[in-house]
Order: sequence, then structure tokens, then C-alpha cells
Amino acid sequence: MSYENILTATENGIQTITINRPDKLNALNKQTIGELNQAFAAAETDSQVRVIIVTGSGQKAFVAGADIAEFVNFSVEQGTALSADGQAKLFDFVQNLSKPVIGAMNGFALGGGLELALSCHIRVASNNAKMGLPEVSLGVIPGYGGTQRLAQLVGRGKALEMIMTADMITAEDALHWGLINYCTTPETLMTKCIELATKIITRSPSAIASAIRCVNANYKDGVNGFEVEIAEFGKNFGTADFKEGTTAFLEKRKPNFTGK
Ligand code: COA
Repeated sequence: MSYENILTATENGIQTITINRPDKLNALNKQTIGELNQAFAAAETDSQVRVIIVTGSGQKAFVAGADIAEFVNFSVEQGTALSADGQAKLFDFVQNLSKPVIGAMNGFALGGGLELALSCHIRVASNNAKMGLPEVSLGVIPGYGGTQRLAQLVGRGKALEMIMTADMITAEDALHWGLINYCTTPETLMTKCIELATKIITRSPSAIASAIRCVNANYKDGVNGFEVEIAEFGKNFGTADFKEGTTAFLEKRKPNFTGK
């Protein structure tokens, strides 16, 4: 598939999706969100892809937010649709993907950029990254899940501080607050992400998909995560991966998982 605003490359089971609008600091316009939706959907069904890394092109930005120029004249209805469409096509979509997604923040991760990273299953940032939800300085709130997912990661107090001050924080602070999993140098950002992905690839894809569903269940209204866990755990016993994993252990060899 060919895209205008993103690049995709797959190597050793790892697909890297690079948001490629460096002259606009990789800001997320409608087209880019649509292309990301297509790329994540394609990666999910591509048996060659086991883990996805999403990053931004250039040295300066992961994603500097939603494209402000695009929504500056929006009405109430258009604003509502912008948030709902974006959440469905990208932010909820990524969080609920059955394959692990690692966000590699290589610079500014602001507004929708930080919200995209928050939707990922794991976040790694280089020490030149700056993170923030500056929306209230524009007269809006974070509308791509940021008010929910940031508080889930760093707690209500720190989330409201970041949202109300609109300040950026450093990758070091983000690590300290539990917003990111690892802080690296710019040179080792992708190496760290590939190292994580390479380890994940040796594990059972079907069990990983199951684990993602269970962890996400905790954040869904009206859903009991413990009950989801019981059901998913039971289903694991019917998978080829479970047979292979347990047999390989008893035979003292490495498992060869198929994801079935
Ligand atoms: N939407 C649209 N365009 C954006 C953008 C965004 N969120 N963020 C950056 N850009 C564009 C700029 O308009 C500029 O385009 P131009 O060269 O055509 O004028 C280009 O990207 C470079 O940005 P610039 O502001 O010149 O870079 P800088 O180094 O001076 O500042 C930032 C970097 C990230 C601090 C600044 O771009 C910024 O504050 N961006 C908006 C962040 C934001 O509020 N995001 C939340 C949106 S809801």
C-alpha cells in the first residue's frame, strides 16, 4: 500500500510506521489519521508483522499534535466529529490492536502526539523528547483520549497539572512519573524499541492478544476485568500456542509459536 504522509517498513517481524510530515512537525491531519488507520489495520492482519513501532520522521518531533490549521474554523458539530472519528480510527484502534504497539517518541510529543503515544501499549522516549497536552492554551481540551489515558498512567493529580498548566515535561520527568517505560539517547531509541519487540516476538502471539484484551478491559465501563481474565485464561487452553508452549517447556526446548 502506498501512503502520502506515513512510511512503513517491516523487518524481522517488526513493522515500523513513521509519521512523515517533518515540515509540519508530523502534525496529525485527517489524511494522516486515515493512513495510520489503514496501516495499523493492515499490520494487524499481516502474518509477517508481530510487533509495531510507531515513530516520527526527523530529529525534532514525534508528533506536535493535531493539525491546528485544519480545525481552526470548526463548528461544535465538526469538533465533536473530529474527536469521535479520531478516537475510533486511531487512538482506540491502537489501544485495542491485538498486536503490541510501541511508541518511539523521538522529539516533541504534544497534544494528539502524546495521545497517540498514550494509546500505545509501551512507550519509549529519547532524552530530547518533550511531552505535553497544550490544548487548554488553544481553548480546547485534549480530545483524543488524553484526559482519560494520561490520568490512568500518571494519576489524576499529575494529569490535571499537565493539562491545566499546558506545560511540557522532559523525558526524564516522564520516566519518573510512569508516563514512559524507558528513556534513551536519540541514537539508541530505535535500538531499545527493537530490543523490546524482539523479546516480545519470542512469546505467544495468541496469549499476548489475550493479555491486551484483559488489561484493556479494566478501563472499559461496565466490564469486569477479572471476569474477562477468567474467560481469556480458559480460552488459552484451547490454543495451539498453549500446547506448543507447555510441550516445549517439558521437552526443554524453545517454543515455536504460530499464534493459533
Ligand atoms: N498543527 C499544525 N501545524 C503545526 C503544528 C500543529 N499542531 N505544530 C507545528 N506545526 C507547524 C508550524 O505551523 C510550522 O509550520 P510553518 O513552517 O508552515 O509555519 C512548522 O510546523 C514548524 O513549527 P514551528 O512552530 O515553527 O517550530 P518551533 O520549533 O518554533 O516550535 C513547537 C515547536 C512544537 C513548540 C510548536 O510548533 C508548537 O507549539 N506546536 C503546536 C503544539 C500544540 O499546541 N499541539 C496541540 C494541538 S491540539
